[in-house]
Amino acid sequence: MENDNKATGAFEPKLVAFVCNWCTYVGADLAGTSRLKYASNVRVIRLPCTGRIDFMLILKAFAQGMDGVIVSGCHPGDCHYTVGNYHARRRWILFRSLLDFAGIDVRRVHFAWVSAAEGAKWADLVNKVSGEVRELGPYKEYQGLAGKGIA
Ligand code: FES
Repeated sequence: MENDNKATGAFEPKLVAFVCNWCTYVGADLAGTSRLKYASNVRVIRLPCTGRIDFMLILKAFAQGMDGVIVSGCHPGDCHYTVGNYHARRRWILFRSLLDFAGIDVRRVHFAWVSAAEGAKWADLVNKVSGEVRELGPYKEYQGLAGKGIA
Protein backbone atom coordinates (compact mmCIF):
# COMPACT_ATOMS: atom_id res chain seq x y z
CA MET A 1 0.00 0.00 0.00
CA GLU A 2 1.42 3.35 -1.02
CA ASN A 3 1.33 6.05 1.60
CA ASP A 4 0.00 8.85 -0.58
CA ASN A 5 -1.84 11.95 0.52
CA LYS A 6 -5.32 11.46 -0.93
CA ALA A 7 -5.77 15.17 -1.69
CA THR A 8 -2.42 15.95 -3.32
CA GLY A 9 -1.07 12.53 -4.28
CA ALA A 10 2.18 13.44 -2.49
CA PHE A 11 3.96 10.82 -0.42
CA GLU A 12 2.93 10.89 3.25
CA PRO A 13 5.14 8.73 5.47
CA LYS A 14 3.66 6.22 7.89
CA LEU A 15 5.33 6.46 11.28
CA VAL A 16 5.04 4.33 14.38
CA ALA A 17 6.07 5.59 17.81
CA PHE A 18 6.92 3.18 20.61
CA VAL A 19 6.52 5.27 23.75
CA CYS A 20 6.65 4.65 27.47
CA ASN A 21 3.42 4.86 29.41
CA TRP A 22 4.63 7.30 32.04
CA CYS A 23 6.28 10.17 30.19
CA THR A 24 6.04 10.32 26.41
CA TYR A 25 2.54 8.87 26.18
CA VAL A 26 1.32 11.52 28.62
CA GLY A 27 3.30 14.17 26.72
CA ALA A 28 1.63 13.09 23.47
CA ASP A 29 -1.73 13.22 25.22
CA LEU A 30 -0.89 16.72 26.45
CA ALA A 31 -0.13 17.79 22.88
CA GLY A 32 -3.58 16.55 21.91
CA THR A 33 -5.45 18.14 24.80
CA SER A 34 -3.51 21.39 24.20
CA ARG A 35 -4.70 21.24 20.58
CA LEU A 36 -1.17 21.51 19.24
CA LYS A 37 -0.99 20.91 15.52
CA TYR A 38 1.31 18.14 14.40
CA ALA A 39 1.55 15.53 11.68
CA SER A 40 -1.27 13.01 11.95
CA ASN A 41 0.59 10.16 10.30
CA VAL A 42 2.01 8.64 13.48
CA ARG A 43 0.59 5.57 15.23
CA VAL A 44 1.43 5.52 18.93
CA ILE A 45 2.10 2.22 20.67
CA ARG A 46 2.29 2.51 24.44
CA LEU A 47 4.62 0.24 26.37
CA PRO A 48 5.39 0.21 30.10
CA CYS A 49 8.94 1.55 29.64
CA THR A 50 11.50 2.07 26.87
CA GLY A 51 13.55 -0.60 28.62
CA ARG A 52 10.81 -3.01 27.54
CA ILE A 53 11.21 -2.25 23.84
CA ASP A 54 12.65 -5.13 21.88
CA PHE A 55 14.38 -3.73 18.82
CA MET A 56 12.89 -6.55 16.75
CA LEU A 57 9.70 -4.47 17.05
CA ILE A 58 11.41 -1.81 14.95
CA LEU A 59 12.35 -4.27 12.22
CA LYS A 60 8.81 -5.67 12.30
CA ALA A 61 7.39 -2.16 11.94
CA PHE A 62 9.35 -1.69 8.71
CA ALA A 63 8.31 -5.12 7.48
CA GLN A 64 4.69 -4.15 8.06
CA GLY A 65 4.88 -1.01 5.97
CA MET A 66 6.16 1.76 8.21
CA ASP A 67 8.51 4.35 6.73
CA GLY A 68 9.93 5.63 10.02
CA VAL A 69 10.02 4.80 13.73
CA ILE A 70 10.19 6.90 16.88
CA VAL A 71 11.23 5.46 20.24
CA SER A 72 10.69 7.81 23.15
CA GLY A 73 10.50 7.65 26.91
CA CYS A 74 11.36 9.39 30.14
CA HIS A 75 14.42 11.59 30.43
CA PRO A 76 17.53 10.00 31.99
CA GLY A 77 17.01 9.82 35.74
CA ASP A 78 13.19 9.96 35.45
CA CYS A 79 12.41 6.36 34.43
CA HIS A 80 9.62 4.95 36.59
CA TYR A 81 11.47 1.63 36.66
CA THR A 82 14.70 3.37 37.71
CA VAL A 83 17.04 2.36 34.89
CA GLY A 84 14.86 1.09 32.02
CA ASN A 85 15.71 4.05 29.82
CA TYR A 86 19.42 3.57 30.46
CA HIS A 87 19.10 -0.02 29.24
CA ALA A 88 17.19 1.25 26.20
CA ARG A 89 19.87 3.84 25.48
CA ARG A 90 22.62 1.21 25.63
CA ARG A 91 20.65 -1.10 23.34
CA TRP A 92 19.97 1.81 20.98
CA ILE A 93 23.70 2.56 20.64
CA LEU A 94 24.33 -1.04 19.59
CA PHE A 95 21.23 -1.26 17.40
CA ARG A 96 22.05 2.04 15.66
CA SER A 97 25.32 0.63 14.40
CA LEU A 98 23.47 -2.38 12.96
CA LEU A 99 20.86 -0.36 11.07
CA ASP A 100 23.09 0.24 8.07
CA PHE A 101 23.98 -3.45 7.98
CA ALA A 102 20.26 -4.27 8.09
CA GLY A 103 19.63 -1.97 5.13
CA ILE A 104 17.81 0.77 7.05
CA ASP A 105 18.90 4.40 6.81
CA VAL A 106 19.57 5.54 10.39
CA ARG A 107 17.56 8.73 9.69
CA ARG A 108 14.41 6.59 9.66
CA VAL A 109 14.71 5.70 13.35
CA HIS A 110 14.65 8.39 16.04
CA PHE A 111 15.32 7.91 19.73
CA ALA A 112 14.13 10.72 22.01
CA TRP A 113 13.24 11.71 25.55
CA VAL A 114 9.88 13.45 25.98
CA SER A 115 8.44 14.04 29.45
CA ALA A 116 4.78 14.25 30.47
CA ALA A 117 5.06 18.05 30.50
CA GLU A 118 6.56 18.32 27.01
CA GLY A 119 3.58 18.24 24.70
CA ALA A 120 5.15 20.89 22.47
CA LYS A 121 8.37 18.87 22.25
CA TRP A 122 6.35 15.82 21.19
CA ALA A 123 4.59 17.81 18.45
CA ASP A 124 7.93 19.20 17.23
CA LEU A 125 9.49 15.72 17.26
CA VAL A 126 6.70 14.19 15.19
CA ASN A 127 6.79 17.08 12.71
CA LYS A 128 10.57 16.86 12.41
CA VAL A 129 10.64 13.10 11.91
CA SER A 130 7.72 13.23 9.51
CA GLY A 131 9.51 15.86 7.40
CA GLU A 132 12.80 13.97 7.35
CA VAL A 133 11.19 10.67 6.42
CA ARG A 134 9.08 12.40 3.78
CA GLU A 135 12.32 13.57 2.15
CA LEU A 136 13.76 10.04 2.29
CA GLY A 137 10.69 8.66 0.54
CA PRO A 138 8.90 5.38 1.12
CA TYR A 139 10.73 2.45 2.68
CA LYS A 140 10.08 -0.63 0.59
CA GLU A 141 13.02 -2.93 1.25
CA TYR A 142 11.34 -4.91 4.05
CA GLN A 143 7.80 -4.83 2.72
CA GLY A 144 6.47 -8.27 2.06
CA LEU A 145 8.64 -9.85 4.76
CA ALA A 146 5.83 -9.78 7.31
CA GLY A 147 4.98 -13.36 8.22
CA LYS A 148 8.17 -14.74 6.65
CA GLY A 149 10.34 -15.10 9.71
CA ILE A 150 11.26 -11.49 10.41
CA ALA A 151 7.83 -10.26 11.35
FE1 FES B 1 9.51 5.83 30.94
FE2 FES B 1 11.10 3.83 31.80
S1 FES B 1 9.16 4.39 32.54
S2 FES B 1 11.38 5.16 30.10
